Formats: sequence, structure tokens, C-alpha cells
Amino acid sequence: MKIINFGSINIDHVYSVDHFVRPGETLSSKNYTVFSGGKGANQSIALARANADVIHVGNIGLDGVWLKEKMEKEGIDIHLIKTVKAPTGHAVIQVNSEGENAIIIHGGANETFKPSDIKKALKTANAGDIVLLQNEINAVDKILKYTKDKDLKVVFNPAPMTDAVKDYPLELVDVFIINETEGEALSGEKKPEKIIKAMSKLYPKSAVVLTLGKKGVIYSEDKTVIKVDALKVKAVDTTGAGDTFIGYFLAELSRGIRIEKCLKTAVKASSICVTKKGAADSIPIIG
Ligand code: RIB
Repeated sequence: MKIINFGSINIDHVYSVDHFVRPGETLSSKNYTVFSGGKGANQSIALARANADVIHVGNIGLDGVWLKEKMEKEGIDIHLIKTVKAPTGHAVIQVNSEGENAIIIHGGANETFKPSDIKKALKTANAGDIVLLQNEINAVDKILKYTKDKDLKVVFNPAPMTDAVKDYPLELVDVFIINETEGEALSGEKKPEKIIKAMSKLYPKSAVVLTLGKKGVIYSEDKTVIKVDALKVKAVDTTGAGDTFIGYFLAELSRGIRIEKCLKTAVKASSICVTKKGAADSIPIIG
């Protein structure tokens, strides 16, 4: 079973700071590094490092050819990554002394998906394949619509959350992978247990994976609820931890592994990710 990931590809400009810049403040960074990133590309790299069969569908500009080459070296099928006449998407990321981040993104080439690209990519899908989506490209609603009536498992990570998400045909999603912010925006609830309950009511046919950072993760599907604790680690940079979780979770799921084991492996991988700097570069390979 393969995973077709329609996702963003970004150049991450990462600045180490003592605190996030305040309104009106000019702040010198302690360190500046350029990394490969983008929620979509990070998730494809995590999938590949977890030994999954992944096709990435995405767009870059001429300045992003190195990202495509890097993804190919990871073992990702890149034949559906197009070079377009727009700058590659990028992110400006501040990482503070606690390892937390604050991110601004510019979509660039990530916002140039056309219906014909989507249809072409979906032609590569076979029954039972997984379609993975984040919310960092245009046309997410169209991709969801085009998956209708195809025998595919649709996994949606609504990150970054926007007002438009609620208008997407979310009833077509088989698995939501959300954090507390996204859960609150979708369900109107703040507490994890309440988010889970509200999501099951709103989307009774979908499974929900609610990631809780240091507090672990909750999985819910029908009447099954599984909780897995996080591992205790010293965080240096949390960027890409969610993407690592998703890649490892789906790689295990695509191999038919039972859910609790999928969650445990994904928690382990994302815990290791936060101990290193960068997004894609901090995704571990674990046995
Ligand atoms: O999830 C982390 C990613 O978010 C970064 O790599 C950055 O590109 C933004 O998309």
C-alpha cells in the first residue's frame, strides 16, 4: 500500500533567539541556518525514513531544485514534483531558548496546484492507498472532492489551521491528525477529552489522532480510545515533530500494524526529532 502525499515543500530560514520578537522590536538572532522544510516534504521524508512507499505531489520554483534532489535521495518518488514559475515556498522560523518555534510561511509555488495535476496524481492511486494532505497548499478542498468514490484512505492534517478548513468537505476524511489548536478550531472545545468527543460527533465515520505534545497522544475511532504517553526528552527545537509523528504513524499503519504500536513508534520518533535542530534534518531513522 502506498502513500500519495499532496504537500508543501519549503526552504526554512531558522533564527535562534532568546525570545520571540515583540511588536516594534528589532532582535538580533544568535544563529541562522537554512534547512529544508515544509509540512508536506517533512512528512514525506519521515515516511521514507520509516520505510514507507511514498509519492510526493508538489511544486517548487527554480530555487528549490535542491529540495527535490534531497527528497529523491531519501527514496521518495518525486516524479510528480513540478518546477513552476513561482518562488519555492519558504518559512521564517524563530526558535527560542525553550526549543519552541514561531513560524511565518509564504506559500509561493505551494499555492500553484491545478486540477489537472491533482487528477493526474490520483490516477496513480490503487484501491486501499493512502492520500495524505496538510493545509499548506492551495486546492485541498478540490483534492478531497476528487478522492470521493475512490477506494482510498484519506488522511488530513489541517496544519496550518485556517478559517477555510471548516468549509472543506471534511466528511470525506478517514483519519484526522490534529493538535490541540486544530482540535479546538474544528470542535470548539479546549480539553482533549472534549475535543475527541466533539470530533466523533461531528465526523462519526472518521478516526481522530489528537497529538498533545509533552502529554502524548489520544487515538479515537468509534468506541475505541487509546492513549499513549510522550517520552521525556530535552527539547532543542520542536519544529517538524508533528510531521515526524505523522510520517511514522502512517508508515506503520500502511503496513497493517496495530494502532497502539503505530502510536508508540510515532511518539518515539517525534521525541527524538525535538532533540535536534531543523525540520526534515531532525527526523530520525529508528528500527
Ligand atoms: O511543521 C514544520 C514546518 O512548518 C516547517 O518545516 C516549515 O516549513 C513550516 O511549513
